[in-house]
Amino acid sequence: MEKTLIILKPDCMEKRLAGTVLNRFQEAGLDIVAAKLTRLQPALLREHYAHIADRPFFPELAQFMGSRPVLVVALQGEDAVATARKLLGPTDSKKAPKGTIRGDYGTDVSVNICHASDSPENAAIEISRFFAPNEVYA
Ligand code: TYD
Repeated sequence: MEKTLIILKPDCMEKRLAGTVLNRFQEAGLDIVAAKLTRLQPALLREHYAHIADRPFFPELAQFMGSRPVLVVALQGEDAVATARKLLGPTDSKKAPKGTIRGDYGTDVSVNICHASDSPENAAIEISRFFAPNEVYA
């Protein structure tokens, strides 16, 4: 059993798509093992996006990600990381095929509905960034 971390981004929350998107993951056999509604602060966003913090689009991305409370969820299941990424589709919503979450609901490369961890190692780091051990029901 593997775990992954997803974040239902501000556009997902604003469009009231949290249930719809969570349902996609649940229908694929992934279980919710932790969940939290939180507004992401600048320091945490710099940490979460450390790999792109020096890119020109980062200030706008950080502003968007902190613009309203988001739902942070840890999911567990077989191949959870790859399963969630496949359901999500590529980063750029405009290039994401219909039938993927980003292809169906996303706007562009920044406003793209949902984050999902890109490896089991990063999933473990990201889950511990958002949840205390006793908040993860795995
Ligand atoms: P990245 O880790 O490359 O993609 P993914 O979310 O698919 O793992 O990028 C992280 C986020 O950074 C991405 O979801 C949205 C934002 N982003 C932009 O705003 N502009 C860009 O050109 C890229 C590549 C990413």
